[in-house]
Amino acid sequence: MNTFLELIYLLFFLLYCYLESIFRLVVPVKRKSVKGKIILVTGAGHGIGKEFALEFSRLGGILVLWDINKANNDATADEIREGGGTAYTYVCDVSKVDDIKRVSDQVYRDVGNVDILVNNAGILHGGELLKIKEEDIRRTFDINTMAHFWTLREFLPSMLERNEGHIITVASMAGKSGSAYLVDYSASKFAVFGMTEALSEELHHLHKDGIKTTTVCPMFVDTGLTKYPQGRFGKILSPKEVALEAIDGALKDHVVVMVPRSIQVSVIIGQLFPYRFRRTLKEFMGFGILPQYESSKSPDNKHTRDN
Ligand SMILES: NC(=O)c1ccc[n+]([C@@H]2O[C@H](COP(=O)([O-])OP(=O)(O)OC[C@H]3O[C@@H](n4cnc5c(N)ncnc54)[C@H](O)[C@@H]3O)[C@@H](O)[C@H]2O)c1
Repeated sequence: MNTFLELIYLLFFLLYCYLESIFRLVVPVKRKSVKGKIILVTGAGHGIGKEFALEFSRLGGILVLWDINKANNDATADEIREGGGTAYTYVCDVSKVDDIKRVSDQVYRDVGNVDILVNNAGILHGGELLKIKEEDIRRTFDINTMAHFWTLREFLPSMLERNEGHIITVASMAGKSGSAYLVDYSASKFAVFGMTEALSEELHHLHKDGIKTTTVCPMFVDTGLTKYPQGRFGKILSPKEVALEAIDGALKDHVVVMVPRSIQVSVIIGQLFPYRFRRTLKEFMGFGILPQYESSKSPDNKHTRDN
């Protein structure tokens, strides 16, 4: 095909994509079924991960629950079983690559190939950058970012073989817009946002379009992770509404799900304006957190402001 014809084809295809997305606003795609699918959720013992697990079970999925906290993880499984669902529990510290490898092998033996991987486990220290200990910054990245690589390394190969699967990445709105006292956390979430977008591109290049990705970006959620969320407008979300929105989007193969959905409009519009405009608006809205990093954790070094 010569370049001119390719260009004509491209223009028509872009127009088609645009019209299709407008059409889809009016007539949404049907949700795909997860009945009998094996769904692994990390950080399933509390908060958003727990609600992911409960809802996926209500929809007929077989749940594989990972958490570092055995009691909480078992409690999620109990709730699932009381509701008539199936759940397998594993204690796994996702900050440890060896733990992920060992527990993944066990999952393959006990349950089988994972169809949907929900990389949800996350931590947040929330403090002035130079007051946060090196080990805490590393741990934030180990859990919020690196663990996604190691779980993918275990479960993506079987998805590639089948050209089927779904990877759900729980990022954050802090992975779209940086805020004070969230420097390490924001960086870890920007990283997984970019990682999932790049992975989606790579899967397309490899002709593995049967494997879908969804990145979830919630605002503040009432789980205790963010102790002092701030904001003049908008409410603190419940973990259940985040999980429901995320699952709804993922089952419609949405690539990004922002919660609440209305925030997506401000993000798109915000990109059209200069940086200072956005910052001023953000200040007016009062979005952010107050520091929550415990002073006992503060490093005793020359960078500490109090010194
Ligand atoms: N809460 C919010 O305001 C908010 C907003 C946006 C995004 N998020 C993201 O949502 C995800 C879930 O957050 P949440 O608010 O439900 O947190 P949460 O603290 O309520 O639950 C996190 C779960 O992960 C588990 N976990 C922690 N470290 C682990 C490890 N090393 N290995 C295995 N499990 C581990 C915890 O035991 C806990 O059960 C996180 O990735 C978080 O960054 C949260």
